[in-house]
Amino acid sequence: SALVKFTRPLPALPVLSPRRRTARAETYELRQRETECEIVPGLKTRVRTFDGCFAPPVIKAVRGRRTVIRQVNELTVPTSVHLHGGHVPESSDGGPMDLVQPGASRTYTYPNEQAHANLWFHDHAHHQESETVFRGLTGLYLLTDETEQRLPLPSGAYDVPIAIRDIRLDEAGQIVYAMNDGKDRNLMLANGVAYPYLAVAARKYRFRIVNTSNLRTLDLRLSDGSSYVQIGSDGGLLAKPFTTASLTLSSGERADIVVDFARYAAGTRLVLKNAVASPPGPEDQIGDLLEFRVGERAEDRSRIPDTLRSLPPLPAPDRTREIELLMGADGIGLIDGKAYEEGRVDAEIPFGSTELWSIRNANDRGSHNFHVHLVQFRVVERNGQPVTAGPESGLKDTVRLAPGETVKVQATFGGYRGDFVYHCHMIDHAAMGMMATMRVG
Ligand code: C2O
Ligand code: CU
Repeated sequence: SALVKFTRPLPALPVLSPRRRTARAETYELRQRETECEIVPGLKTRVRTFDGCFAPPVIKAVRGRRTVIRQVNELTVPTSVHLHGGHVPESSDGGPMDLVQPGASRTYTYPNEQAHANLWFHDHAHHQESETVFRGLTGLYLLTDETEQRLPLPSGAYDVPIAIRDIRLDEAGQIVYAMNDGKDRNLMLANGVAYPYLAVAARKYRFRIVNTSNLRTLDLRLSDGSSYVQIGSDGGLLAKPFTTASLTLSSGERADIVVDFARYAAGTRLVLKNAVASPPGPEDQIGDLLEFRVGERAEDRSRIPDTLRSLPPLPAPDRTREIELLMGADGIGLIDGKAYEEGRVDAEIPFGSTELWSIRNANDRGSHNFHVHLVQFRVVERNGQPVTAGPESGLKDTVRLAPGETVKVQATFGGYRGDFVYHCHMIDHAAMGMMATMRVG
């Protein structure tokens, strides 16, 4: 039965409240549990959640104050919670083999010593993460600092996080999960519901967008083709705002954008579209995401400054490394010819050193992307072209790789010693083995 779009409002993501708050830390307890929710009107879908929220719940954190989260696994599968983009010690990193069994719990401590960024957290238990994330175990983690707070950007009710993903449901509304079946995941969700609308005032809004799809790459455009301003990416604000009419986000990537609805008359309806079919799917389903309904003007003192932040300098690298991602014909995901194996160290990185990694997608069909734990990196080159401005010029932790592409990224591996993974963030690919281990020490 055809789904009538834009009949329900975009749900606001629930902001979780700490159980305890001290001058130095905030403490949470989250229960990982199954529940039912209404993704499509009239149908109850069984989902896996943090604390009963299928739409990613939000944890707000402030630089300099720790976040402590006790995670209680009330699911029937092991989990491991990874704070994506977080600079955290190995013991709290939620690595693929650092499992919390059903019925057990684990406390993760996030130091929040890094700069502001829109991070997110999700299951990472190897082989299981792909299905568990697909069934919903995701949350947002908005870390702020003075650099961000000083800016006159849209705030409060005009600062809206939007998690976008695809899903596959059967006629009864239940999730159908099959490894790597991206082309069949043809229902698009924003904040946990299919094709919602958002009533907006005719003024500027900040949208913090996260692609929480397992596999899907998004190309976000407004239906009138008009431009908006990208102000941030994975690792926080860009140095300078970037005006664009399209925004590409692969799985796990984030973007902060500002849309000014003041240019529209009251009553205007505008659709946020996905203009790319990757993986493919019927255009009428994967092309629409969310409808904006523009209302009356509202006071707007917000502004986008010409300079948003200064980025840390790029030191000369101590070492270069080449990394090759390949999905084998047999469905085994490979990094440098090898599938992930527990305990094997693939890259030894001296503590505190800076490395330049040249990462290549060796498949001539089929996309990948690349994510590394522990650090935020800089994209210095894409296909031989230097990246000096635009959406990839800020701090990043995930970078897309179209078929045959090569990107060079640079990072300094300090802060914590230990074993951390790097992997394709098309989560099914990681589950199929496209993951490796670095030892920082
Ligand atoms: Cu978002 Cu290692 O993952
Ligand atoms: Cu991949």
